[in-house]
Amino acid sequence: MTGGTVALAFSGGLDTTVCVPLLKEEYGYDEVIGVTVDVGQPESEFAEAHETADALGVDHYVVDAKAEFADLCFEAVQANASYQGYPLGTALARPVIAEAILEVAEEQGCTALAHGCTGKGNDQLRFEAVWRASDLDVIAPVRELGLTREWEIDYADEKGLPVEAGNEGEWSIDTNLWSRSVEGGQLEDPGYEPPEDIYDWTDAPSDETETIDIEFEEGVPVAVDGDEMEPVPLIEYLNDLAGSYGVGRTDMMEDRMLGLKVRENYEHPAATTLLTAHEALEQLVLTKDEREFSQQVSQQWSEKAYEGLVDHPLMDALNGFFEGTQQKVTGTVTVKFEGGQARPVARESEYAVYSADAASFDTETVNGIEQGDATGVAKYHGFQSRLANASKPELAPDGGDEASDE
Ligand code: ARG
Repeated sequence: MTGGTVALAFSGGLDTTVCVPLLKEEYGYDEVIGVTVDVGQPESEFAEAHETADALGVDHYVVDAKAEFADLCFEAVQANASYQGYPLGTALARPVIAEAILEVAEEQGCTALAHGCTGKGNDQLRFEAVWRASDLDVIAPVRELGLTREWEIDYADEKGLPVEAGNEGEWSIDTNLWSRSVEGGQLEDPGYEPPEDIYDWTDAPSDETETIDIEFEEGVPVAVDGDEMEPVPLIEYLNDLAGSYGVGRTDMMEDRMLGLKVRENYEHPAATTLLTAHEALEQLVLTKDEREFSQQVSQQWSEKAYEGLVDHPLMDALNGFFEGTQQKVTGTVTVKFEGGQARPVARESEYAVYSADAASFDTETVNGIEQGDATGVAKYHGFQSRLANASKPELAPDGGDEASDE
């Protein structure tokens, strides 16, 4: 017998609920504690988790990691991060959750950590990437025992486990400050158009519009319409506001880490608004070369974040690049919510790489450069291409015929 106490990542859903008796019966632990980490889920989820834990006779811990998570979301803004068009809410939350659970487990003298993830998704990999750096054992009952949803429902029924219809709706939903993900059920069919009721954060776009100012300091959003806000309330405020204009819906095919393609639906009004505004400000303050190279850095950052590897040494290096560029990303962007979009309509910064005089048709000379100076550049432009085209070998008149079958 194994004995000791195991800390379980606990949501109160079917998977984690059946894990509780299984960790005792199948794995031989004496005690299970449940840990739920607050990364901005709806309040009702904590009450439900608490009730379920109570009914199972499990000590339940709730850890508030919202502020820490919001800081990571703002690092993602600085990095213009998105994976295949998804702003990475679930992916960014997992390492934060895993760390918080590990801390509770160590404080409570646990010898093992467990999660209820299946063997098909990304989350098992993200949790374990963090946990396997500790000395504690890592257990994944759903994956290791090959459980199916049907088996879990029968087992819960047989054992009289507290699984109400309330915790298991039609879709599988994962919510945090940065995004709300809806998957499963009929949505698994890529050809099925989602009904309006999968959406909770966004209204269907209407004809109404609204314009807001977002202020950034070194790439970090700090105020909306002149009101300074901490990261958590700022994100919550924009989720509400932009969501009411239908901003931030994504319906996509996603390539998971294991290679599976899955159909995903997301809502992320604040993320869309902030990422759009941030990029608009970078267009003003960064040079063309910085912007182009930044896209490659951003791609790598997003890839690692999707894999749940925010503490990968490469991330430190990539963050080093952003630290440099973000020094200039200070200023204000005006965003218009219109037709389900957050569209930048104005931007200003003291670091603008922009000379109104140089770009204007009305000014003769700027910094000693005048229009006529471009003549030499125009003569050279395309020179190599003209040379190459002039000496191109002619195609044989009946060339290609020899290769045909006729
Ligand atoms: N596919 C996304 C990811 O791996 C989100 C999955 C969220 N889970 C859910 N049950 N809705 O980041």
